Amino acid sequence: MNIPSLEDWIDSSEANAQPLAGVRVLVRSDLNVPLQGGRIADDTRIRASTGTLKKLRQAGARVIVSSHLGRPNGQSDPSLSLALLRDALSDQIQTPVAFSEDCVGPETRSKVASLRDGQVLLLENLRFHRGETENQPAFAAQLAQLADRYVNDAFGTAHRAHASTTGVVPLMAQSAAGDLLQREVKQLAAVLQPARPLLCLLGGAKVSDKLGVLKALAERADLLAIGGAMAYTFLSARGEPTGASRVEPDRIEAARAVEKAAAESGCRLLLPSDHVVAESMDTNAPTRIVEQIPDGWMGLDIGPQTAQGYAREANNAQTIFWNGPMGVFEMDAFASGTESVAGGVAESHAFSVVGGGDSLAAINRLNLGSAISHLSTGGGASLEFIQGLTLPGLAALES
Ligand code: 3PG
Repeated sequence: MNIPSLEDWIDSSEANAQPLAGVRVLVRSDLNVPLQGGRIADDTRIRASTGTLKKLRQAGARVIVSSHLGRPNGQSDPSLSLALLRDALSDQIQTPVAFSEDCVGPETRSKVASLRDGQVLLLENLRFHRGETENQPAFAAQLAQLADRYVNDAFGTAHRAHASTTGVVPLMAQSAAGDLLQREVKQLAAVLQPARPLLCLLGGAKVSDKLGVLKALAERADLLAIGGAMAYTFLSARGEPTGASRVEPDRIEAARAVEKAAAESGCRLLLPSDHVVAESMDTNAPTRIVEQIPDGWMGLDIGPQTAQGYAREANNAQTIFWNGPMGVFEMDAFASGTESVAGGVAESHAFSVVGGGDSLAAINRLNLGSAISHLSTGGGASLEFIQGLTLPGLAALES
């Protein structure tokens, strides 16, 4: 990746310990963490973002942190205020964090002006302004006005061409990629040039959400193991009974096209051979484990035989990429498939990359993070990256 890094700005061998003293740096982080009842449900993205912020502070920069949280559609929404993250950020970087109730405008500029070297200001949710997601030049110009330099560390948002990820870049005198962004690109590049066999485990609810990546991986992987509700569309395309499971009838042809692409490129496409089924998606509903889904019952998790098979393949792989839950992971009754796969990936000696909220949650819940080569903070961004697509946030920095 031909993008300036923080090392280009901060040369630790130089006598000047604070090469960024007096420099206002606008950092685009991805602090889009899951919230439950106004509290942070998983702080992975905050923890992953702190390295860059600490480094800039230590170099004397005046650090302005920006991010989105959720999808407020250009409207102010207190339940998605970045203020909810302020204390957690402050704990992680071990310094007080000031907060600006907007991300642009005169009050924000005055808060920036009162920053001293090494201090940190967190801006309010960028997406409270429509200009962010619409990449409006006037909004990008307002962001650019806040700082002398720009750092993009928001790998999770690098697939969005928004004002804070692309629009602002040409307006800044100097831009660089943060440590998290650099690390993500380096590790995910290893999935694009994998040691083989490459096993890709893909889960999630809808084929329609993952069609692009399914096709790309069918052409590139040695094994593509599918779980989650999207497996039922594939099973239906093979003519197997799916009972009342969630099937996307308008994606059956697409599923067949993925099977065909896999067969043509010599990729083995694995589907669940047994299932945890219930008559309703209810955590207290009676469940059964079946090989053929009966009428009126729906598949809500991969069965134990499938989970063992996928874990066995993980053991034989040299590279593993996993994104998406194998079942309705948020309900305990349907979480064991995802947890078994998490265990299998963690036990494997392969180079392993795991991305996507539920897969990461499974790894974290089982305390297996240290056994995974790379935990990606990017859900959609990592899926686009391993398809070989250009991510606008990266392209903006490269140009
Ligand atoms: C993510 O959670 O994948 C990123 O933060 C991007 O969020 P978005 O899908 O709302 O753009």
